[in-house]
Amino acid sequence: MLGVNEPYISGKELKYLKESIKSNELSIGKFKGKFENKIKQYCKSKYVSLCSSGTSAIQVALHTLGIKENDEVIVPTFTFIATINAVIYNKGIPVFMDCDDNCNLDIKKFNKFIFENTFKKGNNLFNKKTKRRIFAVIPVHVWGGLVDLSEITKLCRKSNLKIIEDAAESLGSKYKIKKLKNRSSGTIGDIGCLSFNGNKIITSAGGGAILTKSKKYHQKANYLINQATDKQFNYIHNNIGYNFRMSNINAAIGLAQLEKISFYIKKKKLINKFYREFFKNSEHLKINEFPKYSNNNYWQTTMIINLKNPKLVIKKIRSSLIKYGFSIRQAWHPCHMQIPYKKFESYKISNAPKISSRLICLPCSSFLKKKQLLKICSIISKNIK
Ligand SMILES: Cc1ncc(COP(=O)(O)O)c(C=O)c1O
Repeated sequence: MLGVNEPYISGKELKYLKESIKSNELSIGKFKGKFENKIKQYCKSKYVSLCSSGTSAIQVALHTLGIKENDEVIVPTFTFIATINAVIYNKGIPVFMDCDDNCNLDIKKFNKFIFENTFKKGNNLFNKKTKRRIFAVIPVHVWGGLVDLSEITKLCRKSNLKIIEDAAESLGSKYKIKKLKNRSSGTIGDIGCLSFNGNKIITSAGGGAILTKSKKYHQKANYLINQATDKQFNYIHNNIGYNFRMSNINAAIGLAQLEKISFYIKKKKLINKFYREFFKNSEHLKINEFPKYSNNNYWQTTMIINLKNPKLVIKKIRSSLIKYGFSIRQAWHPCHMQIPYKKFESYKISNAPKISSRLICLPCSSFLKKKQLLKICSIISKNIK
């Protein structure tokens, strides 16, 4: 059965893999530098550090920026659980925000929270209710559609709030807004984090990257990823780091995939267009819009089910699609409602649970053919009659 987003091997993956195996460069080798440089070039990011996953990238980003125990981090509730877990790994405390209709961080509510519920003391921002320092915000560019960071960067800078972009899903998405024109996702905040998991727009069979314009952050992130090694020869480690390096084998696959990213984005756009066209007159099914202020990578097309019992309809659609070898996924269950995270503060969340119960992720692998898309669409249509 096909997953919602399967990898598409279409370039030099095998060639590069063979090269790294033949040269006995499995963990360390030339593909790491090549992949890093290609990301730098493609995203126009000054520094890039490869790591083992998108989750480890966010974990290290928070550590690099200097999070302290019990610092609060503002996070959207509508994201993959990894975003929140990375805060907890650093002994931080999440404060959950709602999402807007693009499924991204609700900027209006975020601004309101900062104005009404926080105060500044010295150089830091504090939560009025908990008196804890608020250290950072993690905007997540959901499904590849960008959060309008032009709206929050000034406020964050004034409040000394660090920005870590969770750009796990948005490699290749760029802003159209004047202030950020042509800037890539992941390059606006203090640090941006990418994921190359198997389901992403490109994959390295698992991996991530940390993007930054700061040399200081870059050096610290690299140090942490590599077990905080101060002297390699005699194993001196003056701090506690992580084994979060990406292997050369993973980088070889990642490089080959990145060489073809324009091709994948083109395919994703066509898939989105197909679904949009097919359901444009549907009374009950609505293909979600991507933000208008950005050129998005269209990584994941999603659909809202506007019927009385969406749970039942989703169940029916799912079991019919399975018979033909296709799968769908329901949207994330909001993170503030997940058992480990219920006890943390959430701010005026109303939209995320509504969207979550009605939204499905449609099959979007870049290799899907028109014939397959047509089949998927007609199965879905049949199930709402
Ligand atoms: C929004 C978001 N954040 C973080 C991650 C974590 O990335 P990884 O799976 O590479 O750890 C993912 C994807 O898996 C994601 O979709």
